[in-house]
Amino acid sequence: MDTQLTGKKIILGVSAGIAAYKACTLCRLLVKAGADVYVVMTKDALNFVGKATFEALSGHKVSVEIFEDQKDISHISLSTGADLMMIAPATANTIAKITAGMADNMLTAVTLAVTCPVVVAPAMNSNMYQNIATQENIATLKRRGIYVITPADGPLACGISGPGRMKEPEELFSDIVSILSNRIGYTREQSDLLPPPVKPLELTRTRLLPKAYGAGLKVLITAGPTEEPIDPVRFISNCSSGKMGYALAEAALAYGAEVILVSGPVTLTCSKDITLIKVKSASQMLQAVEDYVKEVDIVIGCAAVADYRVENYSPVKIKKEEGNDTITLKLVKNPDILATVGLLENNRPFTVGFAAETNNTEENAKSKLVRKNLDLIVLNDVSKKDIGFNSDDNEVTIFDKDGKIAHLEKQPKHVIAQSVMELIFKYQKNTK
Ligand code: C5P
Repeated sequence: MDTQLTGKKIILGVSAGIAAYKACTLCRLLVKAGADVYVVMTKDALNFVGKATFEALSGHKVSVEIFEDQKDISHISLSTGADLMMIAPATANTIAKITAGMADNMLTAVTLAVTCPVVVAPAMNSNMYQNIATQENIATLKRRGIYVITPADGPLACGISGPGRMKEPEELFSDIVSILSNRIGYTREQSDLLPPPVKPLELTRTRLLPKAYGAGLKVLITAGPTEEPIDPVRFISNCSSGKMGYALAEAALAYGAEVILVSGPVTLTCSKDITLIKVKSASQMLQAVEDYVKEVDIVIGCAAVADYRVENYSPVKIKKEEGNDTITLKLVKNPDILATVGLLENNRPFTVGFAAETNNTEENAKSKLVRKNLDLIVLNDVSKKDIGFNSDDNEVTIFDKDGKIAHLEKQPKHVIAQSVMELIFKYQKNTK
């Protein structure tokens, strides 16, 4: 099976919790998806699942002790070249040890030695989980860039019900896929778990996008600059290549949505399955958006709309005048296309804006979100030379009305677009 996990070296750490049985299913899912899985267990975990089970599932020897077989496999050779390590279940004891940087068994030694992303899936009794010691350890791990998957609330092996139940193997599997594709959490709860920005992972550039996200949805995206004519040969415009908007349109299409792309003048092309409406001025862009707004579920304003247009367009070319070194153009404000959508009283689609800012970036983005009544706003800091306008890369932070929900490290715009679209689809579904 060819997935983004094909050929990935994944270390599965199993510590001593009843949820170790779920790690068997996780191991099987990973192997089925093409990953090369190495299982490392603590001695106590053997009370729950035997080595033979994981050896049969993974096709590799299971390691428990550091010195058991030095010739064959050591914590260093195991950790070398790993793409991801997941500890599932992670007991309070193992979490405490890795927080302290201990290396007293194979699992903790490998955790210390790997340079790949580490994901921890706690599983324990609710009191142990909620104990300040465990909570502080978890906070420390997150601060260090380790992903911690919040356990679910539910019946526990100890007979009580509460937080501490390890996430299901299928969920852990999809978290691994997300992390390896450098996608991030899409709900506030998940994004709270995000580690602080870490260096972008070596990305899988192409991945299969689940069509279910966008299926049945119609998305309208504005892209590119607008041109506000002064006379037949001159215009006022904005810096915008349209790359981000076009990348969003392609990503939305790949997620199975129907896409209408209202584009200002750019040199880009798009898939034939996207309905492309070419416009020049802000007024034309507004008209196109108004024509479609009633039939779409999501509107994303990615266009760099000129804020002003010339009040009196000259139908003939304006000539230089002898003896006159200045010329005055009176500009009038253009309509705010996105605000028109965001402030609709009836049939308002899920509305997303972009904010290209150079200073007070967060404040400006948040105030635009409120002023235009947006559901989400995507901020990019255009004072940074290597991202934003004309660049192939971008780095964005996304906010909803309650604050920051995600930060996407610098990556090619088409990869950013996929993550942004996924997040938009998830949020849009939640608001229905
Ligand atoms: O106010 P500002 O131009 O910074 O807001 C940026 C967001 O608003 C972008 O999503 C942009 O596409 C949209 N916008 C618009 N019409 C305007 C100005 C901005 O749709 N006239």
